[in-house]
Amino acid sequence: MTPDFIHEFVPGSSNRTLLLLHGTGGNERDLIPLGRELDPNAALLSPRGKVLENGMPRFFRRVAEGVFDLEDLQKRTHELADFVAAAADPYDIDKKNIIAVGYSNGANIAASVLLLRPETFAGAILFRAMLPLEPQKPLELANVRVWIGAGNYDPIIPTSETQRLVELLRHAGADVTVRFLNAGHALTPEDISLARDWLRGL
Ligand code: MLT
Repeated sequence: MTPDFIHEFVPGSSNRTLLLLHGTGGNERDLIPLGRELDPNAALLSPRGKVLENGMPRFFRRVAEGVFDLEDLQKRTHELADFVAAAADPYDIDKKNIIAVGYSNGANIAASVLLLRPETFAGAILFRAMLPLEPQKPLELANVRVWIGAGNYDPIIPTSETQRLVELLRHAGADVTVRFLNAGHALTPEDISLARDWLRGL
């Protein structure tokens, strides 16, 4: 395979794969420990975002904080979904058992994949996510399970934006668990333990 994204792959001992999507300024190694903490048995696939903002990797371009370049976002969403589909064969990934785990910018691209390429994920854990775009087509997410962790004091992702995402996903039939934590933008141990418990129950 000639993968389209710089990435890490860590084999697992179960048929679940976590697709790890880092935040702005992160890289493919950042979330490997988090992935292992969330599920010690899952395979981990962790790409690096291809867009650079002042040298910081991201998964799509933005015009300003919270204002996205929608054309680029759509293009990058399809690129990422294509990469995941293409990685399935060489890494022996069960396409029906891929759970996205995204933080911040990584959570936003994961949400965008849910909206534009819903067949890609069986579920998603989204830490500090917002509604990245308004889908133009009716959406069917009846078999998709999503856990969302928001920070009540997050200066980057207002809780109202997270709520818009929750409503849209629920409207499309997704099973959404959302937790509003007394936290800021950074991940907290509470996020991780709640998400891990949710994942164990899947
Ligand atoms: C984004 O650009 O996706 C959000 O503003 C979160 C972030 O800062 O990465």
